[in-house]
Amino acid sequence: MEKLRFGVIGCGGMGGFHVDYLNSADGAHLAAVCDVDPEKAKKYSTKHNVPSFLNHKELLASKTCDAVIVATPHYFHPTITRDAFAAGLHVLSEKPIAVDVKEARITNELYLAKYKHLKFGVMFQMRTNPVMRKVRDLIMGGELGELTRMTWLCTDWFRTWAYYASGGWRATWKGEGGGVLLNQCPHNLDQMQWLLGGKLPSRVTAVATVAKRHPIEVEDEVSAILEYSDGMIGHFITTTGEAPGSNRLEFAGDRGKLVIEGGKIRLFRTRKSVTETLQASKEMFINVETWESEISPMQGGEAHKNITQNFVNAIRNGEELISPGLDGVKGLELGNAIMMAGLTRTAVDLPVDGDAYQAFMKDMTAKYGGKKTLIEKKAVPDMLASFR
Ligand SMILES: NC(=O)c1ccc[n+]([C@@H]2O[C@H](COP(=O)([O-])OP(=O)(O)OC[C@H]3O[C@@H](n4cnc5c(N)ncnc54)[C@H](O)[C@@H]3O)[C@@H](O)[C@H]2O)c1
Repeated sequence: MEKLRFGVIGCGGMGGFHVDYLNSADGAHLAAVCDVDPEKAKKYSTKHNVPSFLNHKELLASKTCDAVIVATPHYFHPTITRDAFAAGLHVLSEKPIAVDVKEARITNELYLAKYKHLKFGVMFQMRTNPVMRKVRDLIMGGELGELTRMTWLCTDWFRTWAYYASGGWRATWKGEGGGVLLNQCPHNLDQMQWLLGGKLPSRVTAVATVAKRHPIEVEDEVSAILEYSDGMIGHFITTTGEAPGSNRLEFAGDRGKLVIEGGKIRLFRTRKSVTETLQASKEMFINVETWESEISPMQGGEAHKNITQNFVNAIRNGEELISPGLDGVKGLELGNAIMMAGLTRTAVDLPVDGDAYQAFMKDMTAKYGGKKTLIEKKAVPDMLASFR
């Protein structure tokens, strides 16, 4: 089989990174680049000796590509994805798949109705992280028994004012559609359902604050409580303004607790069921007998390239997608619910009402639009420093 010809649409920090490793993927090569900024389009076209386009529709019509990676600002992801399907191309979209659930659902419905013969993936590279793969394996394998709590203290997404000034679209309602929940947290939001086998809460309450630590018009600090229909409780705390940040994820269950921190997994295994001990013990105050062990994660690799290679293999040999595009809506459900609950200070039930969420975004744009006071100052980002 001929090597797959890849186009990258949006060649900024993230897209440029994809462009530079594509020729080293097995069974694929870079065939074209596209960016609305002529300088970026030319830079990568010259560097890799491939044609460049200033408009995604021209790239799609050029017949130079079999598949595209979409790495533009988020709002364009659903439109470009659907245009690429219509042109008969496979799509690997950067996260988030869309800014709001309604747009994501439209893409999914269209894909299922007309384009299932094409591959559709989303760049959730954290799914290839060896620690997270092991955690999922333990939870899905029932190691903790029935889960009672998930808590993620995730405050290590530190971003400076210079970061927000590096792109006019960043941290605006019109350009990005949100802040920390839309840009930094899509991976965490995806993990919070992927680690649980797709389980989402039925209700979210939250406190989110706009411009707590940066002169931007979107949220940069969030604390959320997630209620699940089976009684499990979840907590998610994040910010881009705290240093040094913490990153600690805990799961508590009937047979113990998992703590994930600093790239290590610690399992605290109770000898007996916690529920049984609660109900049957004759003692008022007891230490629940627990064994502690440290678990070695499975082997990993280069995260983004792993997802792209798997996407290539899915197209060429039918390998199962690690991160199917259809899954993108799940973390977005959670993110949209937390955003709306946090900024309106009112509980939100899932599934999120797509029309209500779009109306909420309009309200936020009217209330905060234009309040980002940072002057745009383009910067060449070190993408490796932003990844996890
Ligand atoms: N998976 C990850 O770890 C990860 C990390 C960083 C960014 N991202 C995602 O990648 C996307 C881009 O982020 P970034 O940091 O590279 O931003 P960026 O601003 O550095 O790059 C965006 C590029 O898209 C171009 N562009 C804008 N509109 C376009 C259009 N309609 N058609 C073609 N090109 C267009 C811009 O000129 C710019 O070069 C975001 O959605 C972000 O969430 C993912």
